[in-house]
Amino acid sequence: MLVNLKEILTPAYAEHYAVGSFNCYSYETFRGVIAAGEETGTPVIAAFGAAYLANMSLETAHAIVASLAKEASVPVCFHLDHCSDMHVIYRAIKAGFGSVMYDGSMLPFAENVANTRTVCQVAHACGVSVEAELGSLAVGADSHEGRAEDVEQYTDPQAAREFVDSTEVDALAVSIGTVHGLYKGNPDIRTDILEEIHRAVDVPLVLHGGSGTPEDDLHACIARGIAKINVNTEISSAVVAQTAELLTSEKPHYSVLSLRQTDYVKTAVKKYIGIFGHS
Ligand code: 13P
Repeated sequence: MLVNLKEILTPAYAEHYAVGSFNCYSYETFRGVIAAGEETGTPVIAAFGAAYLANMSLETAHAIVASLAKEASVPVCFHLDHCSDMHVIYRAIKAGFGSVMYDGSMLPFAENVANTRTVCQVAHACGVSVEAELGSLAVGADSHEGRAEDVEQYTDPQAAREFVDSTEVDALAVSIGTVHGLYKGNPDIRTDILEEIHRAVDVPLVLHGGSGTPEDDLHACIARGIAKINVNTEISSAVVAQTAELLTSEKPHYSVLSLRQTDYVKTAVKKYIGIFGHS
């Protein structure tokens, strides 16, 4: 069943678990993510980033997810990840996404507020949830989303309160020391800042840059209002490494390789679902 983000995050936020948002850009990734949700009895978020429009159109991605979710025994949210182009946001809403992330984090605060509010008005009228971001993440190793010039800027708790009150977003992505990609040094996750943000706002919080974040830090974040955790890089790295390993000993038919890769995705996703704590 396809649901919007709010339907998935409201119980997660209230009951202190997080729902995984896993980046998808191929049939294998969509199928592996939804299969992982089914095998664990857990709702999942299949995230399609504007960065992957070269892989498939919004409409094709939606058709795949809608067909897989119809058969699935768990709720599936189809979410547009990081998108700063409002035209693409509106096209995603028209294509049937249940949730969109408008990312105006690089804009001056007032402009980010104004654009996010406009997106919320349109999306909410269509039953679609909105995630927005305040602050910005640095980029680590092997990220396919971050750019070298991305700088870390922690989310300011008081600005977060003003932002949420003025925009009516359903979920807020925060910057507290995670990175897009794999950590180049030891992670320094600022749960003290997260705690202040959690006290200042009453919406589910979102942690980007899940890959490689230590389990203890993830648990500490979930206890402080994080209800959605994004994972991309580690799934890709796991599939590529296992595919390379497989091809040293076998040369399977491409159709068989596709099934094996779906399985690699599922295994990587299940690891994170186990950490995020839905029961
Ligand atoms: P990672 O690639 O670090 O897991 O981050 C994913 C993400 O935040 C997607 O928006």
